[in-house]
Amino acid sequence: MIRFEHVGFRYGVGPEILTDVNFTLEPGSFHFLNGPSGAGKTSLMSLLYLGRKPSRGLVTMFGQQINDMEQRNLAHLRQKIGVVFQEFRLLPHLSAFDNVALPLRIIGTPEKEIRNNVGELLEWVGLGDYTQSLPQTLSGGQQQRIAIARAVIARPKLLLADEPTGNLDDEMGFRLMNLFEQLNNMGTTIVIATHSHAIMDKFGHPRLILDNGHLEVQEPKSWVQRSVESVF
Ligand SMILES: Nc1ncnc2c1ncn2[C@@H]1O[C@H](COP(=O)(O)OP(=O)(O)O)[C@@H](O)[C@H]1O
Ligand SMILES: [Mg+2]
Repeated sequence: MIRFEHVGFRYGVGPEILTDVNFTLEPGSFHFLNGPSGAGKTSLMSLLYLGRKPSRGLVTMFGQQINDMEQRNLAHLRQKIGVVFQEFRLLPHLSAFDNVALPLRIIGTPEKEIRNNVGELLEWVGLGDYTQSLPQTLSGGQQQRIAIARAVIARPKLLLADEPTGNLDDEMGFRLMNLFEQLNNMGTTIVIATHSHAIMDKFGHPRLILDNGHLEVQEPKSWVQRSVESVF
């Protein structure tokens, strides 16, 4: 479904942030993206949500090579992707409800269905009393939950979330992780950038580890073995 081959990425004429990155994400897979601050997690996410193109190498998304794709076709592919941005990117003039409803309105979902689904999801993430609030009147954690609700409401084929539980307490963090697990069980492919070892350990998915521009894929088995070895 997604393939990066020898991908390099730099901002303008700056240094290469990603160097010879290679990986494949199968449909329905779930990966954590991990690495120190500044390692390039957000930059890699921007390639995955088709916000930027690689400086070199090949990127294949949904079976299509995107390197030479026109904006119009990229925009079409983007509709299959739900994104939780690290800095949320909520629309400030729209209520919580209207922010979450946006992806459904874009694809022409009937208003009655929108009312029910958006209301139910906002209730579920604990924002039932804030549906008409503007984002800037809410806390960081509340805004993050709106961003997550907006990313998942249209059941994307691919969900990308950049540190989506960073502003949440543990209980809400795990609750939202369970929401991602449910989506994954329904077939959504997921990549979550996170610093949280508590979350990565609890949900045993393979890890894409970025370090110094290089990416290494760790399958669950290898780190279970390592941790067992370190105990004995
Ligand atoms: N828009 C940008 N323009 C230029 N450099 C950037 C930009 N965004 C990030 N960088 C640089 O790219 C590197 C990786 O950043 P980022 O992808 O945000 O890492 P992470 O999300 O892992 O913390 C950092 O050195 C950062 O300063
Ligand atoms: Mg980041």
